[in-house]
Amino acid sequence: MMWAYYKGKEICEIIERDDGYFSAYKSPKVYFSEYKDWPAIERKAMEFVKGIVLDVGCGAGRHSLYLQKKGFDVLGIDNSPLAIKICKLRGLKKAKVMSLEDLSFKPRSFDTVLMMGGNFGLLGNLQKAKKLLGKFHKITSENAVIIAETRDPYKTNNTAHLEYQKSNRRKGRMSGQVRIRVRFEKIVTEWFDWLMVSKEEMREILKGTGWKVRQFIDSGDSGYIAIIERL
Ligand SMILES: C[S@@+](CC[C@H](N)C(=O)[O-])C[C@H]1O[C@@H](n2cnc3c(N)ncnc32)[C@H](O)[C@@H]1O
Repeated sequence: MMWAYYKGKEICEIIERDDGYFSAYKSPKVYFSEYKDWPAIERKAMEFVKGIVLDVGCGAGRHSLYLQKKGFDVLGIDNSPLAIKICKLRGLKKAKVMSLEDLSFKPRSFDTVLMMGGNFGLLGNLQKAKKLLGKFHKITSENAVIIAETRDPYKTNNTAHLEYQKSNRRKGRMSGQVRIRVRFEKIVTEWFDWLMVSKEEMREILKGTGWKVRQFIDSGDSGYIAIIERL
C-alpha cells in the first residue's frame, strides 16, 4: 500500500475488524507527512528523543528521517520489505526488515524506542505486551525511554466499538484489543491483534516489565503519547 502511494497512486486503507466492522483511511499519505504537518503531540514527543534510536514499525520512515536530519543515530525496523525499501530510497541510512517479535540486538543497544503512529498497538495483547516490553528492557541503556503513541478506546460514543469492548471483556481480553486485518486492493494481511489502552491500563501493563510512565502528552481527543522510562 505504501509502495503504491510512493509510486503516485491514490490509496485508501481498509481496516476490517473480526466482528465485520470496516473503516477506510487515507493513512498512507500520513505515513509520508513532514514534521510541520504532524499532530502537535507527535512534534512534542520528538523533544524526548535521546541517543541511539530504534524506530519500531517505522513505515515510510517519517520519524526516522526527521531524527536522522537532526543528527540522531536512528535504525528503522519494519516487517514490510517494501516499507524498508521506501525508507532507504527516501534516504534513511539504517533501515532493516525485522519483525518486532524477532528483535535481535545486543544489550544496551538503544537509548530511545519509538512506537509512533499508534504503534503501541503492535504490542497486541496483555501477555505479548509484557513480553515485548521485557525485551525492550534488555536491549536499551540505563536511562532509556520508550515513546509510544496509542488511543484511549473508552473515549468513543460509537456503539459498535463499545459493544466490541464489552464482548472483549467477556472473553477475558483487554477492552481495546482489536483483532483486525488490513486490505488494499486485492491484498489482505493475516488477522492480527492491535492494542489500544487507557492511561491506567498502560500503567498496569508496565508493572513488572522494568518500565514506568514518566508523563503523558495529551491530544485533547482519544489519542495520546506516553513517555516511558526505566525504573
Ligand atoms: C500504523 S503504521 C505506522 C508507521 C510509522 N510508525 C508512522 O507513524 O508513520 C504501522 C507500521 O508497523 C509495521 N508493522 C506491522 N507489524 C509489525 C511487526 N510485527 N514488526 C515490525 N513492524 C510491523 C507496518 O508494516 C507499518 O509500517
